[in-house]
Amino acid sequence: MAHFDDQLIELIAAVQASAHYRTIDPQVIERVGWSALQRYPSLKAAIKATKTELHQMIGAYADRAPQYAQWLAELQSAPNEATRQAVCRRLLSKHASTRERLPALAQLYPACFGGQPPQRVLDLGCGLNPLAIPWMALSPTTWYAAYDIDTALCAFLHAALPLLGVQGAAGICDLIAGPPPVAADVAFVLKTIPLLEQQRRGAGADLLRAIQAPRLVVSFPTRSLGGRNVGMATTYRGYMDTLAAAEGWSPRVIELPNELVFVIERHTPSRSRM
Ligand SMILES: C[S@@+](CC[C@H](N)C(=O)[O-])C[C@H]1O[C@@H](n2cnc3c(N)ncnc32)[C@H](O)[C@@H]1O
Repeated sequence: MAHFDDQLIELIAAVQASAHYRTIDPQVIERVGWSALQRYPSLKAAIKATKTELHQMIGAYADRAPQYAQWLAELQSAPNEATRQAVCRRLLSKHASTRERLPALAQLYPACFGGQPPQRVLDLGCGLNPLAIPWMALSPTTWYAAYDIDTALCAFLHAALPLLGVQGAAGICDLIAGPPPVAADVAFVLKTIPLLEQQRRGAGADLLRAIQAPRLVVSFPTRSLGGRNVGMATTYRGYMDTLAAAEGWSPRVIELPNELVFVIERHTPSRSRM
């Protein structure tokens, strides 16, 4: 057992030595590394497998060297709302998920909210999506809580949120263990369910059932990162149809060029607040 613990410590140190994975929450590295050590015969193979899995979870989509300090300075020095929105648009293009969504920003969020801007928003596996707040028409009293597994990303978003015209916080939450214990009017889970299902089969559906919000906005990519259409729309429609039938949900579907968005109304009572 002591030998296994030593190996886990060595594995975490090896993964963190790589700049690409240094800012991932250490407990997530430990979770992925622990599982890899069970499956691979050597420490070297387990380290390689851990890095590959972390890359699929986080690294494949994002800018390889995000300049968070510079990005924050740009937001801070923007002289007015229009300039700040232009900065956000440029920063949204630094992540594949939000880059693909750029042409739809102005239509997507009003369509999700249905004419009723929420007072409390959860953004789970958020990536850079909170930088789209300038297109959400939220009131300055809105509470926006964003979660991901990258400590540097979350620190940047935590500092950026007040500059975007809302109140809020960004923090770490490994969604494999469930949603944060926070209630909201709407929860975004954009393009994250497939990654959770890859990490643990059933984790995506478990998450959606457990979120404390009456409205869920859940999306799936319909093209691979390379731009190919490999039947993803059919696969994810099937996934949501099965889950919705089991849960008695009747999602409204919004089709974007690269993304399928499901808006689910659940009428679940909210229980707590961050
Ligand atoms: C494809 S990106 C989508 C980002 C954003 N939701 C969007 O659509 O613009 C997936 C995001 O999920 C996050 N993620 C992956 N595994 C996670 C986990 N176990 N818990 C929380 N977030 C996770 C990644 O760090 C990444 O930011």
